[in-house]
Amino acid sequence: MQSNIVVRKLASAIGAEVVGVNLADETMSDETVAFLRQAWLDNLVLLFRDQNLTHEQHIAFSRRLGELETHEAIPKFCHPEHPEILLVTNFENTGKKLVVGRQWHSDLSTTTRPALGSLLYCDEAPEVGGDTMFGNMYRSWETLPEPYKRMLDGMRAKHDMSVARETRARRSAEELADIRRRNPPVLQPVVRYHDETGKPALYVAEMTTVELEGLTEEQSRPILDYLYKHSTEPENTYRHRWRPGDLLIWDNRCAIHMAMGDYDDNTRRVMYRTTLRGEPSGELA
Ligand code: SIN
Repeated sequence: MQSNIVVRKLASAIGAEVVGVNLADETMSDETVAFLRQAWLDNLVLLFRDQNLTHEQHIAFSRRLGELETHEAIPKFCHPEHPEILLVTNFENTGKKLVVGRQWHSDLSTTTRPALGSLLYCDEAPEVGGDTMFGNMYRSWETLPEPYKRMLDGMRAKHDMSVARETRARRSAEELADIRRRNPPVLQPVVRYHDETGKPALYVAEMTTVELEGLTEEQSRPILDYLYKHSTEPENTYRHRWRPGDLLIWDNRCAIHMAMGDYDDNTRRVMYRTTLRGEPSGELA
């Protein structure tokens, strides 16, 4: 393994920067990949600065960590030649302005194959704004009061792609109905046991979770609102200020994230994401 790799924490709850790794290096040893995977499992989010990745190199490094999604559900946001690359940009590359992830969420929780991890590479960043925030969902679960834990362990919650605030604001009633028809809501466990670490993590987030199984939306609302507030307390988060050349990896099984929309839309924010396919979880509601 390379001996010059340094891992340093970015915040107390979540996130670390890895220094001394060139992700474009196709000869990276299996030992180095295993070291990075362990650092990722320990820190939930890893930052690699000053990378210079082609799409092929981004895909090749991502594949060292697992099988990749080809994003069939959202083909118009895929790179035309590389379906493994999701175009996370704020300009009209798709005929529609792409506004994604501006509330807390875990990638693909609205499907029965939620994402294991995501690798987001920054090509262009706004001068100010457009940060991404992350929350530690192991810690969210650990620090919940015991009565909440007793109530929620074993419970499921409905995740619905059509309820995201930006989606509701920008789509007609027919379009929302169509999104819901193509992506029917899914029941996911409220606490998920991580398939590599075995640790429990809270698995609800405001962008997609609508109600708790066995309760109405009205009855669920105060409980969910408390969980959202609890999991996004500043002490539980890391906020990343992007620079071109940054690559961030996050673990969707135990971390939530949110893209900040606080930048001038005349400036460009150009990101490319690969998504690691996770284990099956949940079932159609
Ligand atoms: C995402 O939710 O994958 C996008 C995050 C971002 O644009 O910062």
